[in-house]
Amino acid sequence: MSEAPRRTVVVLAAGEGKRMKSATPKMLHSLLGRTLLGHVLANSGASGAERTLVVVGHKADQVREHLAEVAPSATTVLQAEQRGTGHAVRVALEAVSDLTGTVVVLNGDVPLLRPETLTRLLGEHESQGRGATVLAAEVGDPSGLGRIVRDAAGNLERIVEERDASAHERAIREVNAGIYAFEAAALREALGKLSTDNDQGEEYLTDVFALLASVGRAVGVCVAPEAETLGCNDRAELARLRALLRDRVNDAWMRAGVSILDPATTWIDVTVTLAPDAEIDQNTQLLGATHVAAGAIVGPDTTLIDTSVGEGAVVLRTHAIGADIGPEATVGPFSYLRPGSKLGRKAKVGGFVETKNSELGEGAKVPHLSYVGDATIGAKANVGAGTIVANYDGVRKSRTTIGEAAFIGSDTVLIAPVEVGAGAYIGAGSAIAKEVPAGNLGVTRAQQRNIEGWTARKRPGTTSAAAAEKAGAAEAGAAEAGAGAGVEKTPEGEAPAE
Ligand code: UD1
Ligand code: CA
Repeated sequence: MSEAPRRTVVVLAAGEGKRMKSATPKMLHSLLGRTLLGHVLANSGASGAERTLVVVGHKADQVREHLAEVAPSATTVLQAEQRGTGHAVRVALEAVSDLTGTVVVLNGDVPLLRPETLTRLLGEHESQGRGATVLAAEVGDPSGLGRIVRDAAGNLERIVEERDASAHERAIREVNAGIYAFEAAALREALGKLSTDNDQGEEYLTDVFALLASVGRAVGVCVAPEAETLGCNDRAELARLRALLRDRVNDAWMRAGVSILDPATTWIDVTVTLAPDAEIDQNTQLLGATHVAAGAIVGPDTTLIDTSVGEGAVVLRTHAIGADIGPEATVGPFSYLRPGSKLGRKAKVGGFVETKNSELGEGAKVPHLSYVGDATIGAKANVGAGTIVANYDGVRKSRTTIGEAAFIGSDTVLIAPVEVGAGAYIGAGSAIAKEVPAGNLGVTRAQQRNIEGWTARKRPGTTSAAAAEKAGAAEAGAAEAGAGAGVEKTPEGEAPAE
């Protein structure tokens, strides 16, 4: 026979969260990279519990699906009808037979609890051998919350919901955070005695305290900072929690050696990792599995989702998702890196460039106004302004390969699948659909012809004609002076110099 776990966590997540006015269950709304429920589960880790039960009800399938992703080891228990927090815990405990030790109950909508506070709650509760301990806080505005009613000696008497409270009790500003520790047997017994004799006609978990106190079991209060106890009932509260968590996350990173130039406009998901000496400029969001290495500069005005930024890279005014930016690479301003964009060391993606599922080798450059999709670009290749990789023929997507140190003239269309060899050149304005072998010049442009005197004949009397006439006079003058050597333009010569 295996030993029963010493601590069991019960997370209450069956409610709809009506005040969110959302098709999504409240628990699944997100807060800097995790759902509310995800935060509560992560926070519960500090309890060291061997077993976690999550009570689901409203949109149970959706919540279960999410749990399978974020907490596959948690057991879900269905509370088919939401008949109150006490009922929810009762249903959860009915699902387990071998219950001893401490039961930690966490409301699913209180996400900012710190691990050390949970540890303190459990320490106090267990060391004093109490039947129940509630986490509470003194708050500025207690409205809507359960009040902590103490006797003259300061001992917890009961917890009263606002709608059932007297005017005197409503004036109490010490409130129930919805986070508790119970002794398993005492809890089970008290839950069996809960009444529904209250304004909502529900079984209140909070009534367990008065019930235990009445039979002489010790009950107590563990006081926590207000911010950790804030719940989420509507979207305004969610926004407030988000701002608090943002500050907490930013403070932690700054203390870990990351420069955050404007913390108020920098939003970093709890799932992001940053190295010391990374610098994050204002109006920047770092989301999902993003990582920024040491000495990299990100922002201003940048959103990185599931993107990694190598040491010393510079990424400004950029939107990137699923990209891998190599060390010392530069990106932006106004670049859009889509999934599978992989930039080698010192590669460059410049202004108004979009990349997708493409690799740029070490030192490769796409400096201006280009689309690069499904391409492999060799080291030190230079892709001229306005180059488009036409990767999609309307049915299929195909790959393009550009060899090492190839030079693609401006305004080239590379029609995939196509290959440009190492060191090859493409004439500006070409549409390349066939292989250009290494070292070749590929050019598809028609020969240029100039029709002499056209403006004067076809657009007489215009400003252009006047300008042409003036230039003609100057040119004639210059020719007379014997300085008229023509400049021969090579096709690639029209690519702007980097
Ligand atoms: C609850 C407390 C209140 C406390 C507040 C802190 C009770 C009676 N009241 O009030 O004292 O100040 O939390 O945030 O406990 N749930 C279920 N099944 C149900 C009902 C609720 O799983 O049948 C879940 C909800 O999804 C939620 C949690 O329990 O995660 C709390 O329920 P909620 O309705 O939000 O309680 P509050 O009114 O906020
Ligand atoms: Ca609540």
